[in-house]
Amino acid sequence: MADKRFHLAWFMNFTPDEWREPFGQGGNPWDGQFYIEMAQAMERACFDLIMIEDKLMVPETYGGSRDLSLKHAMMVPKADPAPLAVAMGMATRHLGVVATMSTMAYPPFMLARLSSTIDSLTKGRFGWNVVTSAEDLMAKNFGMDQLPPREDRYAMADEYMEVVGKLFDSWEPDAVVLDRKNGIYADGSKVHTVDHDGQFYKVRGPLNTVPSPQRRPVYLQAGASPRGRDFAAQHADAIVSVANGVEGMKAFRADIRARAEKIGRNPDDIKVFFCITPSLGETEAEARARYENVTMSDNFATDVLISISAITEIDFAQYDLDKPLPEKLVTNGESGTLDKFQQWGSGKTLRQLAADGGGGLVSSMELIGTPAQVAEKMGEAMAEVGGDGFLITTPVLRVSRRYITEICDGLVPELQQRGLVRTEYKHQLLRDNLREF
Ligand SMILES: Cc1cc2nc3c(=O)[nH]c(=O)nc-3n(C[C@H](O)[C@H](O)[C@H](O)COP(=O)(O)O)c2cc1C
Repeated sequence: MADKRFHLAWFMNFTPDEWREPFGQGGNPWDGQFYIEMAQAMERACFDLIMIEDKLMVPETYGGSRDLSLKHAMMVPKADPAPLAVAMGMATRHLGVVATMSTMAYPPFMLARLSSTIDSLTKGRFGWNVVTSAEDLMAKNFGMDQLPPREDRYAMADEYMEVVGKLFDSWEPDAVVLDRKNGIYADGSKVHTVDHDGQFYKVRGPLNTVPSPQRRPVYLQAGASPRGRDFAAQHADAIVSVANGVEGMKAFRADIRARAEKIGRNPDDIKVFFCITPSLGETEAEARARYENVTMSDNFATDVLISISAITEIDFAQYDLDKPLPEKLVTNGESGTLDKFQQWGSGKTLRQLAADGGGGLVSSMELIGTPAQVAEKMGEAMAEVGGDGFLITTPVLRVSRRYITEICDGLVPELQQRGLVRTEYKHQLLRDNLREF
């Protein structure tokens, strides 16, 4: 029988948990323990990886000030994903841990060194979510007045990938000899300068870390524009996407695979994960009531609009919540997210747009029901799309222990019983687990 399994991943960030809700733990996760236990739950449920989102600024686009972001704890406070990835990785044995780091923020040498170190600490389970940033507010924290246009950011990122690739390869695999008898730790003839002198970066090398178990981290990417998709198809081991329904998912995956084939890559080496935000209950009616409760709450529309304002740098507070948007909007920020959000031509009001799709910005299809119903629907969708996996999250990424339990102990066993997802880990390295099916 054909293997119909797909991969599971989780998308979250190092922010307060679902702090407002009765089942939240109060919004104080800063010692990491809450998220370490979350990673352990994911591993129990055989997720391939957990991915930590990141941004490098305090949002102040919505309403022209940072007050509402702070009041709602939307995108701020947000702690650094790299140390959390280490803490999660060292408290688990199989789960992949992925940190977001921007090519506009880290000098390539620092990123390569940090990634190599974390990959060693996690015994080959580290992934890097390659982002090019989207906000002028971020740029102002890094010596720029504004971000370069998207095309230029991707041109820089292409060269960036070349540089970090050279750094990861600057030690030959057998450069560490560790010959105690003859007193040789590393063989100097097998460690090379990279002497990169390009349009944007100048790096001598070599890297000063040993080759890590995966040599380079697993690369994740989320390009949505045509340029972004080309970039992802060229570099990524896994792509994360928010698509419009099953048809949109199928079209996106086919498009990525075609782009990969065109440049001579095996499309099976690229796993496409679609973001979903399942809403579960003991009955379908209960699940729907809970879903409506969340998406119709006063806070929800504001949370979503703070977030979309931040990543597009368009102030959505200027628009009437109960009217359609007056014009088609464009951004130098996250264009794919904006296009999906605004559903131009649908005639929906801004409030409806915010509530739409089971969670505004991050839901590829509606999944509301009992664990068994949602598992069925996920299986059918994946069969239609052709693969490769789902990236589970919540509408504004915040989680409670209750939600984690519902997914890991409710939904995942239903998926496992249907032979749809992993029941054990076969490999040590994250990249090998991704390529297993
Ligand atoms: C699931 C998902 C996760 C993302 N995570 C981040 C992130 O953590 N940080 C960030 O700056 N951008 C993030 N992005 C934005 C993408 O990196 C990308 O900029 C966006 O999808 C728009 O694509 P484009 O740059 O090709 O227009 C994410 C996008 C998606 C769909």
